Amino acid sequence: PTNEAEVEVFSVPSYACQRRTTLENRNTVLTDALSLLAENAELSAEEGRGVAFRRAAAVLKVLPEPVTDMTQLRGLPCLGEHSLRVIKDILENGASSEVESTKQSERFKALKVLTGIFGVGAKTADRWIREGIHDLQQLKDSRPTLNRAQRAGLEHYDDINQPVSKAEADAIGQVVEEAVAAVLPGAQVTLIGGFRRGKLSGHDVDFLITHPEEGREVGLMPKIVSWLESQGFLLYQKTTRNSYLESEDGPARPCSNMDRFERCFSVFKLSEDEKRRAGQTQSRHASAEDGGRKLWRAVRVDLVVSPISQFAFALLGWTGSKLFERELRRWAGHEKTMSLSSHALYDGTQRTYLRATSEEEIFAHLGLDYIPPSERNA
Ligand code: CTP
Ligand code: MN
Ligand code: MN
Ligand code: MN
Repeated sequence: PTNEAEVEVFSVPSYACQRRTTLENRNTVLTDALSLLAENAELSAEEGRGVAFRRAAAVLKVLPEPVTDMTQLRGLPCLGEHSLRVIKDILENGASSEVESTKQSERFKALKVLTGIFGVGAKTADRWIREGIHDLQQLKDSRPTLNRAQRAGLEHYDDINQPVSKAEADAIGQVVEEAVAAVLPGAQVTLIGGFRRGKLSGHDVDFLITHPEEGREVGLMPKIVSWLESQGFLLYQKTTRNSYLESEDGPARPCSNMDRFERCFSVFKLSEDEKRRAGQTQSRHASAEDGGRKLWRAVRVDLVVSPISQFAFALLGWTGSKLFERELRRWAGHEKTMSLSSHALYDGTQRTYLRATSEEEIFAHLGLDYIPPSERNA
């Protein structure tokens, strides 16, 4: 930071993957506002605008002080005209009129409520809104055709929209460990996603599973799912098979964020028993007061299985944040002529795949300083 006219002027590199973004954020008022506009853009199929707001918010997240004056933002990357206008509005008036009117808008409120149903994306929500459906009651009354995921999503709506705590994530981790140990001893479970970045709550819990011997992980997911189902832990699951073949698929496609691992999107039934066994809640016995009280909650859980040869890429690709991942791929493509996915890193200049057994090696291949998970909260 250099001194200029007595306000602190900040200097920030332009890619989020060049920066250390912890959970400590001195500018939450500004970043919440920009994130809301990003969310609104994403829900309105304006992905480009969404990314622009996300990038702007991410820059503010790394500033060491609260922004108090527009002159402090001079020379910062990723702050477009629109984001600057929003920031200026908040600094001058305490709030952004655009953010406030978005929050109040019937369309935004309806999009939020309807996409809060697991299995419902922006497209489906938009179609329902055009049919005059704005809330869950109207949706139920209209007797829509729902797929299996959406039916589970509607049934467990309140639970799924309640944040998952770290304690709950750990309790689910113990169940997943138990499942994996039962069906393939020696297989390893790693917590990924937001909880690996040190977040204290999340919208779901994500796990990556591998085995130190290449090939032993083949067909593992259905076995894990069967075990979990037999123990009554799954309210919903959809498993998709691994479809990645380096030879057939060629280089990791630079702008693709889809991966082809064996994976499972699920809704877990987490009971007080598991939380207690994980040592998270006070030991207590069922009593008369429990009559009618629900002793479990539904939690969204994502499971991914990767072969050990791709583990480092999967770990890096599934730890997030989503913007950090996007920026890594943009850096690889635009600055290094490389192509990064959750499976591989392809060097377009040398026309070869670059191997890695750790995240550190991947950052080194990319010519980036290593950023630990807790500093990937862009
Ligand atoms: N991811 C992915 N493909 C998907 C969904 C997610 O590669 N279809 C990756 C994301 O890029 C992210 C990670 O999986 O790196 C976790 O995604 P998600 O659970 O959606 O977000 P979190 O960062 O874990 O945040 P939250 O606490 O809200 O769950
Ligand atoms: Mn997650
Ligand atoms: Mn997830
Ligand atoms: Mn691109």
